[in-house]
Amino acid sequence: MKSIVILISGRGSNMEAIVQRCAAEAWPARVAAVISNRADAAGLQFAQSHGIETAVAAHKAYASREDFDAALAEVIDAFAPDLVVLAGFMRILGPAFVRRFEGRMLNIHPSLLPAFPGLHTHQRAIEAGCKLAGATVHFVTPELDHGPIVLQSVVPLLADDDAAALAARVLATEHRIYPQAVRWFVEGLLRIERGVVRHVGGESQLLACLHGEGGTG
Ligand code: GRF
Repeated sequence: MKSIVILISGRGSNMEAIVQRCAAEAWPARVAAVISNRADAAGLQFAQSHGIETAVAAHKAYASREDFDAALAEVIDAFAPDLVVLAGFMRILGPAFVRRFEGRMLNIHPSLLPAFPGLHTHQRAIEAGCKLAGATVHFVTPELDHGPIVLQSVVPLLADDDAAALAARVLATEHRIYPQAVRWFVEGLLRIERGVVRHVGGESQLLACLHGEGGTG
């Protein structure tokens, strides 16, 4: 049984999707803890109501980024996770932290990486006149929103989209691809070769929702 720790900063809808699919599909894994850098993260309540341990490592309590990273790593290590899942975790993690969990830490970013890393991704995609948008699950490397790509979803970017409408369309696909990627990891189905992630069974690593079949998440 693999142990998963999920890091959140807010709403936690991706964390919810992972917790629910893990239970519904009886993965060989359990979500051991949900950790937030903010005590008021709404997702903590969902975790608690599902009997999952929660912890808060408040970044404001530490003098430096390195001190926060070290404290957070200690909290995580107490749960001995096989996999650390960043799910809307809004702190940049330093290289020492990333190295410690390298190869066993995933992130989701709401763009088709390597396009639009960082903040305001949806607005930037709209302003660039993109016709496609999507989300990317990737292994975490020291460079922000970078690293070997596990799964991507793709949705249309429509002419009258504002950032909120686009974010909602992308989020519905996040709720499908993030649990899928985590499941593949805990089932040992992912290999990284020369920086490229392959599913050992050759499953498609692309979810294309180009004709309104994205669902509501
Ligand atoms: C998601 O769009 C995720 O891709 C991004 O932050 C958002 C988090 O949403 N990194 P939630 O907290 O999972 O609902």
